[in-house]
Amino acid sequence: MRFSVGIVSFIPCLFGLTFVGAVPTKDCAYAVKESIAEPHGWTKDSQPSPNHKIELKIALPQPNFAELERHLYEVSNPDHERYGEHLSKEEVEELVAPHPESLNMVNEWLSSFGFKDEDLARSPAKDWITLKVPVSIAEKMLDTKYHVWKHVESGDYLVRTTSYSLPTNLHAHIDLIQPTTMFGRFKSEKSSIFSAVPIPDSLVQANNAIGTIEAASGVSVDASCNQTITITCLQELYNAVGFKPSAKGNSIGITGYLEEFANFQDLQTFYADQRPDALNSTFNVISVAGGLNNQSLDEAGGEANLDTQFAFGLSHPISPTFFTTAGRPPFIPEEGGSEDTNEPYTVWLDFILSHPNPPLAISTSYGDDEQTVPFSFAQRACAGFAQLGARGVSLLFSSGDGGVGDGDSNPATQTCISNDGKNTTKFLPAFPASCPFVTAVGATTHIPEVAVSRFFSGGGFSNYFTRPAFQDKVVSAYLKALPKGTFAGLFNLNGRAYPDVAAQGDLFKVFVGGEAFLIGGTSASSPTFAGFVALLNDVRLKAGRPSLGFLNPFIYSKGFAGLNDITVGHNSGCGTLGFNATKGWDPVTGFGTPNFGKLRELVLSL
Ligand SMILES: *[C@@H]1O[C@H](CO)[C@@H](O)[C@H](O)[C@H]1NC(C)=O
Ligand SMILES: *[C@@H]1O[C@H](CO)[C@@H](O)[C@H](O)[C@H]1NC(C)=O
Ligand SMILES: *[C@@H]1O[C@H](CO)[C@@H](O)[C@H](O)[C@H]1NC(C)=O
Ligand SMILES: *[C@@H]1O[C@H](CO)[C@@H](O)[C@H](O)[C@H]1NC(C)=O
Ligand SMILES: *[C@@H]1O[C@H](CO)[C@@H](O)[C@H](O)[C@H]1NC(C)=O
Repeated sequence: MRFSVGIVSFIPCLFGLTFVGAVPTKDCAYAVKESIAEPHGWTKDSQPSPNHKIELKIALPQPNFAELERHLYEVSNPDHERYGEHLSKEEVEELVAPHPESLNMVNEWLSSFGFKDEDLARSPAKDWITLKVPVSIAEKMLDTKYHVWKHVESGDYLVRTTSYSLPTNLHAHIDLIQPTTMFGRFKSEKSSIFSAVPIPDSLVQANNAIGTIEAASGVSVDASCNQTITITCLQELYNAVGFKPSAKGNSIGITGYLEEFANFQDLQTFYADQRPDALNSTFNVISVAGGLNNQSLDEAGGEANLDTQFAFGLSHPISPTFFTTAGRPPFIPEEGGSEDTNEPYTVWLDFILSHPNPPLAISTSYGDDEQTVPFSFAQRACAGFAQLGARGVSLLFSSGDGGVGDGDSNPATQTCISNDGKNTTKFLPAFPASCPFVTAVGATTHIPEVAVSRFFSGGGFSNYFTRPAFQDKVVSAYLKALPKGTFAGLFNLNGRAYPDVAAQGDLFKVFVGGEAFLIGGTSASSPTFAGFVALLNDVRLKAGRPSLGFLNPFIYSKGFAGLNDITVGHNSGCGTLGFNATKGWDPVTGFGTPNFGKLRELVLSL
């Protein structure tokens, strides 16, 4: 490895392999970089094999991120003269590039452990370094001890530590290194509480009943849509009947993780049932880090099929892509030598940021409890989402399925306990929904639409991200109207509030392994909303305008007028009824569900 050692005061420290016998200078002494309390719900299980491979990801600081953020807000604010002037990949990379001194310092440190440039993978902006190392080396590099940890409820395992150190002279040059303190349990937001059920005959008969019902927005909807949601139901309910996308250069993406495979044959069955004009069309599959898409019907994933069938069914014939990302933490320690990865969405983020043409609307139905993702990591992932927004990509995320609580547990046993060692009772916001640079989608059901109250429509207030200016007015108004002392101490009054919007999210008729199921979750609402964003991008592109990009500044300033306000329902969790849906924005359904006819006019007026 070669260095350009032109930096003043650059005194290399000697570490690792070359450390033996050398006396470290004061700067080179290790100090704790990050430390967390023993995570709630996990116990220390055993020692990992010293050869267990870890894929370390090292984040170098992005000293100009504030500048990127300024550009992002300018090009996303409909009232700014630069609205729609999205940045190129190269412009974004320049704005997140680390300082050369950080690069040099980290290179020097890695080379002292014998790593050469060819051992490292770097992101295009050089702000992330990835390298695979055995646990025994990671322990030396980070002056720590890894353990195998067991998640008590699920029996899942992770190799992690609760604290790691770095030479003090590197603290300013490294934001974070993972996997170390990350105890996330990345999960699909397909409701795990009411599992998918095959459609009963009685329902099929009920759905054959003819008739229509009036939705709140005045449109007519097939009566069957109150029991079963299909593409036609969503087109009717959201006022997009007869719209045919035709612009060139438009695209939509669905992310898939955790070995959820999207099945082509099921898609055809779905299209035959709900979108006959899309029959014989298919989607592109992009494998990220070796992700598979096994086409055996036994392997068809409920989540992947739900997401692809509805997002692509709604937006046909806009160019569809399914990203299948490998990686499945937690892992099974018995499978010696298996690799232990980070949250796979950062693997995807790395990939998509390197991609010259990411899809213009992308939906993700996976997330974590915010508190299980270390703050430093959540911040960097969120900064990655900002970069995509600056490039003109709209990112939709499920708001989570646990109401104000932990979507992973049964409401009866929901704990809602803080992970900071203090065991405080509190609401548990979801990440990435809590990142201000993504658009979080909550869930409604039935006609007239109400929030899905019994178990999901995740919503609330971030404990990590402060409230962005674009939502301050409406969120303050919501908080002001709350009875005094409501849920005092359970949530962060100053946090980024979510969701931003909502869409139907229950009773979706999905084909999985050749059979029809009814599936619900904010997993259903996010791809649905993304489908409509893709249609709106079509309207924009056809008029010679750029894509919508980062949606929130538009939604909070103008777009809300094109959404159906949901005013009934609440998001139970943590032994409470949660927040209420109300007139205007609320932390259950945001501003509400799309009215395509109105939104289409609005996006043309920008
Ligand atoms: C739809 O179903 C819900 C729940 O069963 C019910 O409350 C509502 O009245 C139904 N809507 C119509 C228009 O019948
Ligand atoms: C799909 O392909 C079949 C068989 O080639 C053909 O009969 C049918 O018309 C096609 N449908 C559409 C909508 O293209
Ligand atoms: C796909 O899944 C089937 C059924 O589980 C399995 O038998 C087959 O080996 C898998 N194929 C690949 C290429 O992994
Ligand atoms: C928090 O809960 C765990 C068990 O889940 C217990 O071991 C620990 O002692 C508790 N800590 C405090 C400060 O109460
Ligand atoms: C929700 O509405 C109910 C009924 O009006 C009310 O009793 C309750 O206090 C409200 N809860 C919140 C959190 O606003």
